[in-house]
Amino acid sequence: MAAEIERAVVVTGGSRGIGRAICQALAEAGTHVFFNYYTPGDREAEETAAAETRELVEASGAKATGIWANVADKEQVETFFKQVMETCGRIDVLVNNAGITRDNLLVRMKEKEWDDVLEVNLKGPFLCIQIASRVMMKQRSGRIINIASIVGVVGNPGQANYVASKAGIIGLTKTAAREYASRGVTVNAVAPGFIETDMTAKLSQKVKAAMLAQIPLGRAGTPADVAAAVKFLASEDAAYLTGQVIHVSGGMYM
Ligand SMILES: NC(=O)c1ccc[n+]([C@@H]2O[C@H](COP(=O)([O-])OP(=O)(O)OC[C@H]3O[C@@H](n4cnc5c(N)ncnc54)[C@H](O)[C@@H]3O)[C@@H](O)[C@H]2O)c1
Repeated sequence: MAAEIERAVVVTGGSRGIGRAICQALAEAGTHVFFNYYTPGDREAEETAAAETRELVEASGAKATGIWANVADKEQVETFFKQVMETCGRIDVLVNNAGITRDNLLVRMKEKEWDDVLEVNLKGPFLCIQIASRVMMKQRSGRIINIASIVGVVGNPGQANYVASKAGIIGLTKTAAREYASRGVTVNAVAPGFIETDMTAKLSQKVKAAMLAQIPLGRAGTPADVAAAVKFLASEDAAYLTGQVIHVSGGMYM
């Protein structure tokens, strides 16, 4: 066990986008950031992105370990957390960030599109929370932060599967917050609005313009905007917050 590590942080989906920014924001000397990543069919690009995240985290004086592991696969999740425990013997922060979209109108939505999104976006956090919370409850301390979305609150045409998963994660957050509060573990969610990442890069110019028109602050969010809220929730300053959803949306939702 590495005695010099004071804080073990786990971030799912840390190779790119919001997850990478969260890894960077939580990276400081004395912290070991563990992240996973997984995009079947594009492993080479994903490994290159993960190597960049590792470098960025290490540049802040933290340790970094990135592992190819699917959050929807129980065995892979167990192996991932086993590595965290073997290295650090503790888990201080878990950020459930990994997420995917498979957009389609409800009438056309394939069962597989529904299942894939729910497996990654909702079952994934369940599996990770279950393992991490056992450790955190024993420690009598821990922070769990789930990345939801404003659409989980307001709905969005063409995203029934994604919206259901994000509404689900908000309910999961509130229930876990109530179950773990007496053990010193807080559970909160961050709900981003429209953030510039690979996930939103695939949207048409028309959809992007319509989104921007709905943002009072007049710009799309950056991954760093979301990471700042996560950093706050993981900090001592957020000790008295649990079961909350912080919307980082430039006022898109208020
Ligand atoms: N981009 C936005 O506008 C926006 C808005 C609201 C919420 N969100 C949420 O923020 C989170 C991050 O989104 P992003 O835009 O950075 O996405 P992204 O597509 O840029 O990155 C997704 C990350 O998740 C990882 N991942 C995907 N499937 C995985 C799996 N099965 N197991 C492990 N890792 C997996 C990828 O490797 C990658 O690191 C997601 O939960 C997303 O739903 C994003």
